[in-house]
Amino acid sequence: MQPANQKAFHGGASFDAIGSDFADLSRRHGIVDADVLDAWYEPAPAVLATLREHLPWLVKTSPPTHGDGLRAAIAQRHGLSPQHVLIGGGTSALMFLAFPRLVARGDRVAILDPMYGEYRHIFANVIGADVVACELDEARGFRPDPAAIAAQVEAMGARLLVMVNPNSPTGVGRDAEGLRRLLALLPADVRVWIDETYIDFVPDVPTAEALVGTDRRLVVAKSMSKFFALTDHTGQERTLADFKGKVVTIFFGYTQCPDVCPTALSDMSMVMQQLGADGDKVQVLFVTVDPERDTPALLAEYVPVFDERFLGLYGEPEKIAAVAKDFRVFYRKSGDLAGHYTIDHSAGTYVFDPQGRLRLYMKHGEEPAKVAADIGALLAGK
Ligand SMILES: Cc1ncc(COP(=O)(O)O)c(C=O)c1O
Repeated sequence: MQPANQKAFHGGASFDAIGSDFADLSRRHGIVDADVLDAWYEPAPAVLATLREHLPWLVKTSPPTHGDGLRAAIAQRHGLSPQHVLIGGGTSALMFLAFPRLVARGDRVAILDPMYGEYRHIFANVIGADVVACELDEARGFRPDPAAIAAQVEAMGARLLVMVNPNSPTGVGRDAEGLRRLLALLPADVRVWIDETYIDFVPDVPTAEALVGTDRRLVVAKSMSKFFALTDHTGQERTLADFKGKVVTIFFGYTQCPDVCPTALSDMSMVMQQLGADGDKVQVLFVTVDPERDTPALLAEYVPVFDERFLGLYGEPEKIAAVAKDFRVFYRKSGDLAGHYTIDHSAGTYVFDPQGRLRLYMKHGEEPAKVAADIGALLAGK
């Protein structure tokens, strides 16, 4: 039973509060959705822009039933054969699809402990399997011990071993040698499921993907809901703190601007030239005030033309409006005729010092030599 005043829900439970009949989706605004998608990150702007562009067509089209194109693209990207790729609506969906086929009620399944709790839940509560916990030793820094795990799996007669690598919640990853040893030690009929949901966050943890072609026991589960949820024009979410130690200049404009924006950006590229090597300690940001037409892909083409170190920043219209308000930047569409419009906008540039403090507001048309001198002074700690 959920308390009447409960406002935060984990994962699927949020639909109990919203109403799983979807009759009134506005109820979602009244709850905190602690979803498995870790959804406090905005979706990647390029994904939203692409979906928006094709939405009318998408909603009247049935997607290909077996997703062969997607499988082929994933296989090619990961150097695998498409026959070794199975796609689903997230790792969770694949877990619910695969496990009842791999394990029956009463079968033994080995999991690491501690480890992402959903696995124990599915095996114990959904399938009714007998869960064996291979305890990770805190004194060993929670590093899995291949010999101990293999011995326990064999002794308990487990049919399946499930591991998360790098593990959640310990953050500990396994090296390639450890995995090879474990696979060599495990009985030939024990299946091994390795969940690599967090592998892109830990650069030195090797993926077991390549082994699926040679070891029939192995399943490697990948998720697109974590790494790809993070989102500049390169797809990364940015805040001022990312540029600590640099002088940051912020200009608001739009790529179809006929005069002010290209002039401001080319003036900034002259400033960068005059700064020479110190230019690497300056981050020029161009924030679009035209998120309807300036897709991240367009910003990625346009902004670096002036200097490849410049970044174009995109946000959803509400977010841009909020940021512009913070900076007291004004912008307004003018002469909108069937999607053809210009935008009147403030044309000054804000300059932050390397400690992140707002120090200068430069009017449009300032001499590049003077701007370079001012930035040089900020870099010198003045
Ligand atoms: C270790 C691990 N595996 C799988 C999932 C589920 O991922 P997906 O969003 O792809 O269903 C999560 C979600 O938090 C997770 O932490």
